[in-house]
Amino acid sequence: MSTLTERVTATLRDIPDFPATGVVFKDITPVLADGQLFADVLGDMAQRWRGQVDVVTGIEARGFVFGAALALELGTGFVPIRKAGKLPGPTVALSYDLEYGSATIEVHDDSFHPGQRVLVVDDVLATGGTAEAACRLVEQLGATVVAFETLVELAFLHGRDRLTGRDVRTLVVVDGE
Ligand code: PRP
Ligand code: MG
Repeated sequence: MSTLTERVTATLRDIPDFPATGVVFKDITPVLADGQLFADVLGDMAQRWRGQVDVVTGIEARGFVFGAALALELGTGFVPIRKAGKLPGPTVALSYDLEYGSATIEVHDDSFHPGQRVLVVDDVLATGGTAEAACRLVEQLGATVVAFETLVELAFLHGRDRLTGRDVRTLVVVDGE
């Protein structure tokens, strides 16, 4: 019988030359499309954090899919961290470097509170810029990041180096480019 990691690994789809020539994109959509596998992934994530977090936050866009579903599993609320300019209320924002250029993410400034235990969720850890910025936003509002939980880690991009000292959990580690 194959493990959950093996099932996810076998289901992820490699798309060559997306979004740029020479890049092999790890497409998670087949994992979402497989109802049993998606449920098993959420069940695995949930059993790790049940009773240990007060709220789940996910990063637009793909982090919403896992984050909102995980919040339901855990019986917590969900906070969306969005790309700049999408949230209607007062926000706190953070900019970070991408491989080319930069990006800004933001969250409503009343989303997190001191003492709150927050689980940060996304689909992929690549260079770690997005995850690091999300964790900093949570902490800027006084809450505590319990962990960063993700489906896939592209280890060759060394995203963990930007998350030193944090609990980083992933189901699948991709070593080669
Ligand atoms: C992708 C992915 C992660 C991020 C990881 O998001 O979903 O959020 O990149 O990259 P990093 O570790 O190098 O920061 P992206 O914004 O490209 O697309 P999405 O809107 O589909 O989530
Ligand atoms: Mg994303």
